[in-house]
Amino acid sequence: MILEIENVRSDAQRRVDAHSHIKKLGLDESGQAIPEASGFVGQCKARESMGIAAELIKQKKLAGRSVLLAGPSGTGKTALALGLARELGDVPFSHLVASEVYSAEVKKSEVLMEHFRRAIGLRIKEEKEVFEGEVIKIQAQQIDGAASGAASVQRVNITLATKKAEQELKLDGSVYQQLEQQNVKQGDVIYIESNSGLVKRLGRADKYVTDSKLENDQFVPVPQGEVHKKKEIVQHVTLHDLDVANAQPKGGQDLVSILNQFNKIRKTEITDKLRQEIDKVVQRYIQNGVAELNLGLLFIDECHLLDLECFSFLNKALESPLAPICVFASNRGVTTVRGTDIKSAHGIPSDLLDRMLIVQTLGYFENEIFQILKQRADVEQVKLTEGALKKLAQIGTQTSLRYAMQLISACGVLAEAQQIEVDEQIVQEVRELFLDTKEAIHVLENNQGYLM
Ligand SMILES: Nc1ncnc2c1ncn2[C@@H]1O[C@H](COP(=O)(O)OP(=O)(O)OP(=O)(O)O)[C@@H](O)[C@H]1O
Ligand SMILES: [Mg+2]
Repeated sequence: MILEIENVRSDAQRRVDAHSHIKKLGLDESGQAIPEASGFVGQCKARESMGIAAELIKQKKLAGRSVLLAGPSGTGKTALALGLARELGDVPFSHLVASEVYSAEVKKSEVLMEHFRRAIGLRIKEEKEVFEGEVIKIQAQQIDGAASGAASVQRVNITLATKKAEQELKLDGSVYQQLEQQNVKQGDVIYIESNSGLVKRLGRADKYVTDSKLENDQFVPVPQGEVHKKKEIVQHVTLHDLDVANAQPKGGQDLVSILNQFNKIRKTEITDKLRQEIDKVVQRYIQNGVAELNLGLLFIDECHLLDLECFSFLNKALESPLAPICVFASNRGVTTVRGTDIKSAHGIPSDLLDRMLIVQTLGYFENEIFQILKQRADVEQVKLTEGALKKLAQIGTQTSLRYAMQLISACGVLAEAQQIEVDEQIVQEVRELFLDTKEAIHVLENNQGYLM
């Protein structure tokens, strides 16, 4: 029997989240919003403002600028922040929902500080001596009489080839374990740092590109030149990565020190002193040109949930030269600042509000809701008739965009059971099955909140 492989698709579940359809901000070269692009529909002014924020981040000149997205619920504030992050690509992005700062174990300022440092990246450039090439042969030598497995490999011989040369390396068994971990096989392009013996798999040699369509691998060209050479290696880390790496206790490999490590892990924390030390080293790296700052984006959603202490922390942190660009979002109007009885717009103290650029998001028209729902139906892979979409869009205007979006998948389930496309009839049925917020409130009001 011959297995058919060409047309088999993996049935690994594809999870779709609320913002899967958002790819980028959908702007043209001049920064104007294209009415419908990258998953976004309408909300043009806000998208253009976020485009300017993206530019600020790319230019790296302005530290600590902050933007507040303000508008009613369901108008795309979270979507805009994610769109901005996806627009920026390889800058660090840290996402905090304000309620996360209230933890019984960790101080509020600690949570905020951690997220700040997750949004500050470094590109560390180092010139290292490496052996780089396509793997031609891997030959492991086991310890005599030991059980099989990567750990029992004593030495390993690897033959690497570039377009020009070929070289056989005789290496220690620990290198073999790294090869196993990264699943390195013949035909992969790798490099091995000559000082540390660190192995990095770069991808599959591009001459195998037509080999298999099932492979979801990165293809890279076979390097030119000699196998042994100097290579500029760029590493992306955030300050938070450095904090964590340097806070972990280091010990030996014997059993006692490993057990000690378990005891210590809970106790070691990232102290202010450690952070200052790290900052000093980082500053020196930057001055020497070894590292380059890669300021990213910190997104604080539902920021009206922060309290006065958090706001005063933010005030100070935003003025530091290392501060990332911060994007805040809130759907509240004038409300009390948490922890005080002062009323202020969006629940943010006026001194902080004064430092923010405020971007307003507006509600949607029926035709915009129609288009958004259409995009969602696509990513959720639910087929709807034109009439069904129109009906859903109407429901969206009467209730909310989110409610209408949630009905899509429910309709999909019903239609699948009946093996038909979603039509108006099905939309109507599902509409009657689930209450929207207004109806739910109405029911509660008429039943004295169920307290009978
Ligand atoms: N202009 C748009 N184009 C495409 N999809 C949108 C647009 N605006 C909102 N959405 C989608 O609608 C849903 C609701 O939007 P989102 O969660 O961003 O609202 P929000 O403003 O953050 O609301 P809240 O204040 O309740 O947090 C999301 O799934 C979002 O991806
Ligand atoms: Mg939101």
